[in-house]
Amino acid sequence: MLQNLFLVAGTLAPLLQGLPGTNAISTNFTSACEGIASRTSSIPNTTAFFSNFVPAGTNLTLDSDSTCGTPSQVTFADMYTVALNVSTSDQSGIIMEAWLPTNWTGTFLSTGNGGLAGCIQYIDLAYGAELGFATVGANNGHNGSSGEAFYDHPEVLKDFVYHSVHTNVIVGKEITKIFYRTPHTFFSTGRRS
Ligand SMILES: *[C@@H]1O[C@H](CO)[C@@H](O)[C@H](O)[C@H]1NC(C)=O
Ligand SMILES: *[C@@H]1O[C@H](CO)[C@@H](O)[C@H](O)[C@H]1NC(C)=O
Ligand SMILES: *[C@@H]1O[C@H](CO)[C@@H](O)[C@H](O)[C@H]1NC(C)=O
Ligand SMILES: *[C@@H]1O[C@H](CO)[C@@H](O)[C@H](O)[C@H]1NC(C)=O
Ligand SMILES: *[C@@H]1O[C@H](CO)[C@@H](O)[C@H](O)[C@H]1NC(C)=O
Ligand SMILES: *[C@@H]1O[C@H](CO)[C@@H](O)[C@H](O)[C@H]1NC(C)=O
Repeated sequence: MLQNLFLVAGTLAPLLQGLPGTNAISTNFTSACEGIASRTSSIPNTTAFFSNFVPAGTNLTLDSDSTCGTPSQVTFADMYTVALNVSTSDQSGIIMEAWLPTNWTGTFLSTGNGGLAGCIQYIDLAYGAELGFATVGANNGHNGSSGEAFYDHPEVLKDFVYHSVHTNVIVGKEITKIFYRTPHTFFSTGRRS
């Protein structure tokens, strides 16, 4: 098995080609979805904003910063999406999304972002979910492609420098465990995890 394989940040699609056979794991999706938002509250410092069933082919309108350049994203698999705030101090937090496909292959993928980006890479979430990964992405603790949010906010800078990638992995794995109630194999495109 490809345990603890770390992929370098970049576009996912070419990197993920040639992974071992994708045999979907049968899971009771109906029961997995039930109460997922409230069950995530068992994860420390975590509040769910929403959770939704999203069929393949949905053109999602995204609530992302205009500088991220991603007003919408088409989904490629039937899935459940969960959006969360993980607070890292009394005045800072990391926004995360988990895309949890129906035809899960038992794998978990934590996606990264480039540069100063406070932008969830929705295209990578869409690819990861299509390939059967429980896929998570985070905003690195601030929204948008500039570092303006760091000014006078050391806690926001700390989220960017070391909290976000780590939190994305820890919380993402917890959500995956809670959702599918089964162990999983881990992949990451984060560079600072
Ligand atoms: C899946 O879970 C739902 C809700 O818990 C239950 O009603 C249903 O019978 C389950 N289906 C299977 C095939 O186990
Ligand atoms: C998705 O919707 C947006 C408008 O919200 C539109 O600009 C975009 O072209 C749509 N994408 C597709 C693939 O239809
Ligand atoms: C950042 O974006 C999220 C939605 O993705 C929104 O809920 C939050 O309020 C935004 N934060 C700020 C400081 O604008
Ligand atoms: C999951 O289902 C989608 C369609 O809903 C399909 O495009 C995708 O290839 C499937 N992935 C796996 C790993 O079976
Ligand atoms: C949870 O929040 C508290 C207070 O906001 C903070 O001190 C602590 O570090 C946070 N825990 C994690 C795991 O982020
Ligand atoms: C996330 O949690 C932090 C800490 O509690 C809070 O300061 C921030 O406003 C929250 N973000 C959102 C979008 O609710």
